[in-house]
Amino acid sequence: MKILAIESSCDETAAAVVENGRHVLSSVVATQIEEHKLYGGVVPEIASRRHCESIVGVVREALERAGCTLKDLDAVAVTYAPGLIGALLVGVNFAKGLSLSAGLPLIPVHHLRSHIASNYITNPTLEPPFLCLVVSGGHSHIIEATDYTALRILGKTRDDAAGEAFDKAARAMGMPYPGGIHLDRLAETGNDQAFRLPRPTVDGAPLDFSFSGLKTAVINILHNAKQKGETINTADLAASYRKAVVDCLVKNFLRAADETGHQKLVIAGGVSANALLRRRLKAECSRTGRMLFMPDLSLTGDNAAMVGAQAYYEYRAGHTAGMELNACAQRAIDLG
Ligand code: KG4
Ligand code: ZN
Repeated sequence: MKILAIESSCDETAAAVVENGRHVLSSVVATQIEEHKLYGGVVPEIASRRHCESIVGVVREALERAGCTLKDLDAVAVTYAPGLIGALLVGVNFAKGLSLSAGLPLIPVHHLRSHIASNYITNPTLEPPFLCLVVSGGHSHIIEATDYTALRILGKTRDDAAGEAFDKAARAMGMPYPGGIHLDRLAETGNDQAFRLPRPTVDGAPLDFSFSGLKTAVINILHNAKQKGETINTADLAASYRKAVVDCLVKNFLRAADETGHQKLVIAGGVSANALLRRRLKAECSRTGRMLFMPDLSLTGDNAAMVGAQAYYEYRAGHTAGMELNACAQRAIDLG
């Protein structure tokens, strides 16, 4: 089954053709990051406009690279939630138009489900059940996947998402948007014991995360140093901060694994590219004999190949939509 997938939930316009949920025939991503960088973050109105401008060319290129025409496709899939509403609407309306005109089934896909599905492309043998840490710019979830479309949230952030926490701290340290990757690179050169930072926990909810206090601690360190005219070693601060965030993620994820008994651990989302998170989980899993699955680095950020992968399983579960499909800015992953 060949699915044309479309993604426009944030600042990447993407299209891909994916066969049977695992085999990527083409994947095209047009990123807007350079433009949003000027403002230090994503400007929703600009994002929507750029999606409108790019979507026709991106979809055409995805079809061309896959050697397909609309006649070769079996369905059209689209990210419909969660994300920036104006951005999502561009992809949803385009996909609806294509589905109607070409007479193809329309498959709505939840963005976080598709991040998880990036692992089906990289790891062809991976099948549910498994436990997944989904860490992106907008979400930090510990998810139990009992089937491809049966997902349960075991833990989540109470405030900032992990990616947001990385980006805000990186911005305070003077790095360009999105700062997560820059902070990660700089941290590789720093001393992670140089600054004492908290490891926040949530009372009564040991699998939940809270990152806003940690981020504020870093901002306070920077402000205090500035007021005193002292210089800070940002590589050391980045290393100490990255270690604190990763300690929280790894601790809760492994606790969830202990509590549920899952032996297959999966990570997904933009922050799953983090070098320390990958190293720590690899070490923990080889120590405890658990299996670790990670998406290829090229699939950790937003793309449409992962949408096409999840769409295949949504379709098999009977999850299609008609012309009434609308975009949703917020929607829980377990609702589909
Ligand atoms: O999944 P994603 O591409 O978009 C959302 O759905 O939000 O995630 C983007 C987030 C950004 O916050 C970005 O800074 C973060 O992922 N990120 C990283 C790294 N690469 C991307 N965070 C930490 N370390 C990285 N290497
Ligand atoms: Zn994403």
